[in-house]
Amino acid sequence: MCGIIGYVGKKEAAPIMLEGLRKLEYRGYDSAGMAVVSEGAMHLRKCAGRIESLAKLIEKTPPKGTAGVSHTRWATHGPPTDRNAHPHYDKSGRLALVHNGVIENYQTLREKLIAEGHAFHSDTDTEVLAHLIGKHYDASPLAHSPRRLIEAVRDGLKRVKGTYGIAVIHLDVPELIVGARLGSPLVVGLGHEENFISSDAAAVVAHTRDAIYLNDYDLVSLTPNKFEILSLDGSQAQFEVSQVDFTQDEAEMGIYPHFMLKEIFEQPESLKNAMRGRLSLDDGTAKLGGLNMTPREIRDIDRIVLSGCGTAMHAAMVGEYLIENMARIPTEVEIASEFRYRNMPLTKDTLLFVVSQSGETIDTLAAMREGQRKGHRVLGICNNVASTIARESDGGVYMHAGPEIGVAATKSFTSQVTVLTLLALLLGRMRNTSMSDGLKVIDDLQSLPDKVAEVLKMSERIKEISHKYVNAEGMLFLGRQYNYPAAMEGALKLKEISYIYASGHPSAELKHGIIALVKPDMPCVFIAPDDAVFEKNVSNIEEVKARRGPVIAVTTEGKTELEKVADDVIYIPECADYLTPILASVPLQLFAYHLAVARGCDVDKPRNLAKSVTVE
Ligand code: AGP
Ligand code: GLU
Repeated sequence: MCGIIGYVGKKEAAPIMLEGLRKLEYRGYDSAGMAVVSEGAMHLRKCAGRIESLAKLIEKTPPKGTAGVSHTRWATHGPPTDRNAHPHYDKSGRLALVHNGVIENYQTLREKLIAEGHAFHSDTDTEVLAHLIGKHYDASPLAHSPRRLIEAVRDGLKRVKGTYGIAVIHLDVPELIVGARLGSPLVVGLGHEENFISSDAAAVVAHTRDAIYLNDYDLVSLTPNKFEILSLDGSQAQFEVSQVDFTQDEAEMGIYPHFMLKEIFEQPESLKNAMRGRLSLDDGTAKLGGLNMTPREIRDIDRIVLSGCGTAMHAAMVGEYLIENMARIPTEVEIASEFRYRNMPLTKDTLLFVVSQSGETIDTLAAMREGQRKGHRVLGICNNVASTIARESDGGVYMHAGPEIGVAATKSFTSQVTVLTLLALLLGRMRNTSMSDGLKVIDDLQSLPDKVAEVLKMSERIKEISHKYVNAEGMLFLGRQYNYPAAMEGALKLKEISYIYASGHPSAELKHGIIALVKPDMPCVFIAPDDAVFEKNVSNIEEVKARRGPVIAVTTEGKTELEKVADDVIYIPECADYLTPILASVPLQLFAYHLAVARGCDVDKPRNLAKSVTVE
């Protein structure tokens, strides 16, 4: 995702937008820019790098004008360079546009526009939108007026597939901003003789708390003294003016005290983005365009190796179960740092995946290059489109999770597992998975964001539970099958932000040595959903209780029998067994977060750690 802020009023637009972009930097920070209209000219300032780089550019040559649009980018298409930064112009250079989202059919639109004589100056999907709207504006029979720009935006967007939150200005109507929303948030700030449009109220709350939160398919036209909310289909849109429910000083991270908590709570949205445009109800399968493999090549795969580090490796471990169960392809996970030295005997048709949120982890890069050196196709599952893995891999699947700033991976884990589920579905539907089973997987996936939202409502209760264990000497996390990697991930979350030693294990491994650690100040966390191994997990819980070990159980709603054996029970909604690692990881993220906060730890920047480990 990214941050957008537009201003139209009586004051200089540039400083207002720059201050707003700083409030939006959490949404994306690989490049930034603004376009300001004044004296019949469009003044464009944009560059790669953080917002401070843009601030320096503006300090040197301040763009004058009282209307403008601005953007801080989190690249999805095209690396973070000066030319790929937003705003983007249309063919005439009289229209400027900023965009949050992904235009899925941008390639087709781009080719068509090139055939009509349009020249593109960036690698982004966004620039296609600017040219498309500009083309309709230039072809319009209407006189230069707000209506002409509104109709051009409407006509252009009708041809677009994907998500957008946009703000558009045009030299012919210098006191007007037109905005539109589908899938990416936009809020209008209503001021006195000035109006604002932004991705997040945090960027405008310093100026006004009167806000209109746009809905999907809404269009808005803004001038200093007027606003109009329309629908894409031309009908009058319903809207309400509400009060922004937080003050300016809370706006730094929106309403959250830490980026990690914000990212935990973004998961219903990030899961939707991981699936967006990738579920085929017609064929009961997943559509993953970036694999760059023909159906025959996919059919010939006879082995898969998944590699990554830390959380990414845990996600890969879930992927191993998913692919073997859905596609019956022998699959193995190897820690990236070990893969490069292990010299695994691989077949000619082995397909290698590297999993990485940042796409820059040095060990994972090395694993990718080692696989390519041996002539294997290596695909990436990563979040950062501009990353080295994105550039050097032979294809892959983006997570579209948006920027993850907290060092502890949260939404990236659930997005990675979701992408791996889509991959397993695609591979399975090319082998043993029937159409009806495929449609059942799609149905399970589509219900997941709402179920995660249900779990998030338990945050306060999980906080109370976590505070009981604030002085634990250590903690054991246990799960079986799909939830063994989830147990490992729960342990990693706890230890990396609370500094309490924790380890994750298959539940049945307890009796092979680990149970020697069990004692009153060594709690065990069991992921024990209502699945085929539920009773086995209950037996393990009994073994721990018999040795006076405290037990926290994460289980499916309705499995109240666990209240008789466990000290604390956290319920998650019913879901397919292969999706429990996603659903169960959310309470464990919250558990680790609240415990770390209670211990006074720096949750977003834990000691000794970095968000992306680019050194060996
Ligand atoms: C997980 O919370 C940590 N931030 C760390 O283990 C991380 O998952 C690992 O460094 C891999 O990072 P990547 O996904 O960016 O490659
Ligand atoms: N898809 C657009 C780009 O890559 C916008 C990304 C964003 O939302 O920041 O430039």
